[in-house]
Formats: sequence, structure tokens, C-alpha cells
Amino acid sequence: MPFLLRQEERPEVVSLVPSWPKDRHWRAMSDPDHQYILFQDAEERVVGYVVLGGLTNGDGCLELVRMVAAPPGFGTGTAMARAVLAHAFGPLGAHRVGLSLFSDNACARRLFANVGFVLEGKLRDAVRGPRGYRSLTLMGMLRRDYQSGF
Ligand SMILES: CC(C)(COP(=O)(O)OP(=O)(O)OC[C@H]1O[C@@H](n2cnc3c(N)ncnc32)[C@H](O)[C@@H]1OP(=O)(O)O)[C@@H](O)C(=O)NCCC(=O)NCCS
Repeated sequence: MPFLLRQEERPEVVSLVPSWPKDRHWRAMSDPDHQYILFQDAEERVVGYVVLGGLTNGDGCLELVRMVAAPPGFGTGTAMARAVLAHAFGPLGAHRVGLSLFSDNACARRLFANVGFVLEGKLRDAVRGPRGYRSLTLMGMLRRDYQSGF
């Protein structure tokens, strides 16, 4: 938990991932609908995490709720996304993995496109932040996209 909260306080993360207070994380962690996945490097240092949602909805449509790499810029995000897709379409048997990201998050958008997510749309002015409304970009990957190697 301290690792998660520390990451979500980083200024560059705050502007890209709406920060959750501790009790929101606790609720999600104890909710079977969510899965928290921590990633470690070869020295067993935690280098990032992913939160998956939708595990209990019964239709196999999962959501990549949040992903943070610490530090960013070393390929960790790409590696985490690939590992999460293998987990989702493998042991979890997902039909679909979807996500939304702030439309100005160029790094995440490139990363998700690189690993095969398809651009599905845009929710204009969907979130009100301290500097006004921001739009969300929707991306998704279906099992058949994943299996075809996109
Ligand atoms: C998004 C995030 C997880 C990516 O992790 P990362 O380890 O930095 O990603 P990678 O090093 O694997 O790089 C991903 C791609 O983005 C590119 N990239 C990096 N900065 C970029 C920028 N400012 N604009 C466009 N592309 C950028 C990289 O070049 C790489 O693409 P390439 O492989 O084609 O060269 C990480 O930056 C992060 O934690 N950001 C804050 C939280 C966040 O935005 N989460 C995603 C929304 S849920």
C-alpha cells in the first residue's frame, strides 16, 4: 500500500491517473472484482503495478483500471502490459480487455497501441479536473485480436 500511495502522489502521475485515497484502494483490494498485480525487477524491487477490474461480471470483459511504472521510461510499462494481457487472455479466460486514459496521455496511448490495443473512441470532456474538463480515449483488445497477434 505505501508503494501505491507514493506512486500516486508523484506529480507526473497525479495528472494522468486520478489518485485514489487509501480506503478506496483497500476496498478495491478486498473486492473480488479487482486484482492488484505488482511487478518486480530481477533484484525483487517493485517497479510497477496494474489494477484489473471486472473479474466477477460474468461476461469476461475486463478493465485495465490503472497502471503505473516506477520509474517510467525503461520499458516497464510495455512489459507490464504484455504480461497482463497474457494473464487476462490466459488464466483469466477474458474475452476482452478495455481501458480508458486521458486523451493527452501520449505515452500511455503509444504503449497500449504498441501492444495491440485498438482505438475505440473518445469521451469528450468526460472528467472535470482543476484546470477544466478533460477527454478520455477508449481502447480495447478482444481475445481474437490477441490470438491473431494483431
Ligand atoms: C504510462 C506508463 C505506465 C508507461 O510506462 P513506461 O515504463 O514509461 O513505458 P515504456 O518505457 O514501456 O514506453 C512506452 C512507449 O511510450 C513512448 N513514450 C514515452 N514517453 C512518451 C511521450 N511523452 N509521448 C509519446 N510517447 C512516449 C516510449 O517511447 C515507448 O514507445 P516505443 O516503445 O514505441 O518507443 C508510465 O509512464 C506511467 O506510470 N505513467 C503514469 C501513469 C499512467 O499514465 N498510467 C497509464 C494510464 S492508466
